[in-house]
Amino acid sequence: MPNRSAVNNDASSRIYVAYCASCHGEDGRGLPDLGFNLVGNAFIRTSSNAELREFLMIGRRPGSPDSKMDLLMPAFDYLTDEELNAAIAQLRHLNGG
Ligand code: HEC
Repeated sequence: MPNRSAVNNDASSRIYVAYCASCHGEDGRGLPDLGFNLVGNAFIRTSSNAELREFLMIGRRPGSPDSKMDLLMPAFDYLTDEELNAAIAQLRHLNGG
C-alpha cells in the first residue's frame, strides 16, 4: 500500500496520477517550477465543485491576474465528465474531504 501519497486506490487517484501528478507531485504538494501545492489549498477549499470543474476546463495562463507561479496550468477540456469528477474528488481528498 502506498504510503503518504495521493493514491487512494480508486478512479480519482488513477486520473490524478495519469494527468496531474507529473506537475503537482504524487503527494499533491507541488513540484518546483512545475506545479503548485494542492494540499491544504485555499483556492480548492473556497471553490465549489462547479468552480473547480470550470477551472480545470480552462486552466490558467502565466501572467493572468490570479497566477501564482507564472506558469501554465493546462486546460483539461478533453477529459470526460467522469474523469473531471474524479479529478475533483481527488482535489477534495487532498484537502481532507
Ligand atoms: C504541466 C503541468 C501541470 C499539470 C499536468 C497539471 N497542472 Fe495544475 N497547475 C499547474 C501550475 C503551474 C499551476 C499554477 C498556475 C499559476 O497560478 O501559476 C497549477 C494550478 C492548479 C490549481 C490551482 C491551485 C491554486 O492554488 O490556485 C489546481 C486546482 C490544479 N492545478 C489542479 C490540477 C489537476 C486536478 C490536474 C490534473 C487533471 C492538474 N492540475 C494538472 C501545472 C499543472
